[in-house]
Amino acid sequence: MRKHIVAGNWKMNNGLSQTQALISDLKKQIRTSDAEVMIAPSFTNLWQAFQSLRQDDIEVVAQNMHFAENGAYTGEVSPGMLKSIGVQTVILGHSERRAYFNETDESLAKKVDAALANDIRVIFCFGEELADRKSGKEEAVVGSQIKNALFHLGVNAFKKIVLAYEPVWAIGTGETASPEQAQDMHAFIRKILADKYGSEVADNVSILYGGSVKPNNAQEIFGKPDVDGGLIGGASLKAEDFFAIVNAF
Ligand code: PGA
Repeated sequence: MRKHIVAGNWKMNNGLSQTQALISDLKKQIRTSDAEVMIAPSFTNLWQAFQSLRQDDIEVVAQNMHFAENGAYTGEVSPGMLKSIGVQTVILGHSERRAYFNETDESLAKKVDAALANDIRVIFCFGEELADRKSGKEEAVVGSQIKNALFHLGVNAFKKIVLAYEPVWAIGTGETASPEQAQDMHAFIRKILADKYGSEVADNVSILYGGSVKPNNAQEIFGKPDVDGGLIGGASLKAEDFFAIVNAF
C-alpha cells in the first residue's frame, strides 16, 4: 500500500523564534495518524527543528538543495550538508523554484540524481500554469515535466520518489483544483508511470496534491482514490490548520 503523506512547506517564512513557537504548537496537536507528517522549514532553521522534533513523529525535510557535492557555488547547500544534519527527504522542483530561480527539467534531473546518490528521498513537484490548462495542455505539460526530470531513473531509484502535483494557478491563490481535477490528473500520472515502470510501481508511488489545500477542502481532495496526501503551503504555518489537514485522512 502506498503511504499517505502530508508535508508542510513553510517557504521563506519564520525566523528562529517563530520556528520554535510553531514547532511547540505542532507538538501539542500531534495525534496518531496513518499519514506521514513532514515540515520543511528554511535552511537556517533545519537544525533547530531537528533538535526539537527528535522524539516526535514529524519528519524535518529540506525545501531545496544544489546538485553538486561541494565547491564554488556561493549561497548553495549540498546534499551532503543536508545529510550531515540528518535530512532524509528534500522537496525539489517547486514551481516557485522553477519560476524565480530558473530551475529547469535538466537541472532538476541532476538534483534528483544527487539526492538519490546521497540516499535522500525526493518529493518532486510539477504542475501546469493557468494558460496550459486553459488551452487543454495540462496533461502534455505535466507528462513532459515528469518524463524529462525522472524517466532516466531505473525502477529501484524511482521507488524513492514521491510526486507532488501542484497546478501553478492554485498555489497561494485560494483557488484549489476541484477534487475531480486533482483525481483526473493523478490518474493520468499513474497511467504514464505504469506505462514506464509497470503497474506495481505506479500503484505504490505516493502522489500528493498541492495548491490551496485548507482544513475545509482537504477531506474532499484526500478522499479521491489517486490522491495520497498534500503539500501544504499557507495552511502549514498554523499548527491547528495543518493538523486539521493531516487529520482529514
Ligand atoms: P499553498 O502552497 O498551500 O499556499 O497554495 C502550496 C505549495 O506551494 O506547496
